Amino acid sequence: MREALIDLEDVTFAYDSRRPVLDGLDLRLFPGDRIGLTGTNGSGKTTLLHILAGLLKPQSGSVRVFGSERRQEADFREVRARVGLVFQNADDQLFCPTVLEDVAFGPLNLGRTPDEARGLASATLERIGLAGFEERITYRLSGGEKRLVALATVLSMAPEVLLLDEPVSGLDGEARSRVIEVLREVSQALLVVSHDRSLIRDVAHGESVLRDGRLTPPAEPDAPGQA
Ligand SMILES: Nc1ncnc2c1ncn2[C@@H]1O[C@H](COP(=O)(O)OP(=O)(O)OP(=O)(O)O)[C@@H](O)[C@H]1O
Ligand SMILES: [Mg+2]
Repeated sequence: MREALIDLEDVTFAYDSRRPVLDGLDLRLFPGDRIGLTGTNGSGKTTLLHILAGLLKPQSGSVRVFGSERRQEADFREVRARVGLVFQNADDQLFCPTVLEDVAFGPLNLGRTPDEARGLASATLERIGLAGFEERITYRLSGGEKRLVALATVLSMAPEVLLLDEPVSGLDGEARSRVIEVLREVSQALLVVSHDRSLIRDVAHGESVLRDGRLTPPAEPDAPGQA
């Protein structure tokens, strides 16, 4: 039987004593899956991705990634080497002085030699339309440029699963098309969060809506009696 890469069962998460953001949520992602995730602002999409990357711990429920239950920080170290998360806010992703250092950081950390890491970083930058950006100072980049570099930092690691939080927000038409092209070509399983339905149509095979703390199928646009 095919094993799920990610298997969340009955996950509940609350930031404080208010109503839980995630409430009995189930999610399964299999190899080759490409799921688009939508939901209103504040519905918990980013929270869900942060739980998958081990940045937040659910109060209850089970988080299985690559066939093992993940609870402690140590369990998530392996997860973060194999699951790439592109943050909604690129400033959360980028921390090196130059673009090349940021994009080479992941491969270096995974044991590549400095030469290999630099080669991978340059190739990834080129793929995403940022050839020549290697020595640019990261914090001086424009918002859209940072977003592209953030995506490059994850692609250069060639993770087995891609978690993308609004990967094209703030991008101009040309950059958006390039990112869509790259995402259509990747072979990894992916979970892409976006308010952009056409992006989801272009890169995902299925769509889930986060509503009232759980994943639900999207409403049929023409179905009578549905909003
Ligand atoms: N650190 C935090 N402390 C307290 N509440 C938080 C925290 N982070 C997020 N929240 C709240 O949890 C809820 C879910 O937030 P989350 O960022 O996951 O939503 P989202 O679906 O990603 O929204 P958006 O579409 O705006 O990105 C929101 O009501 C938000 O205000
Ligand atoms: Mg969000």
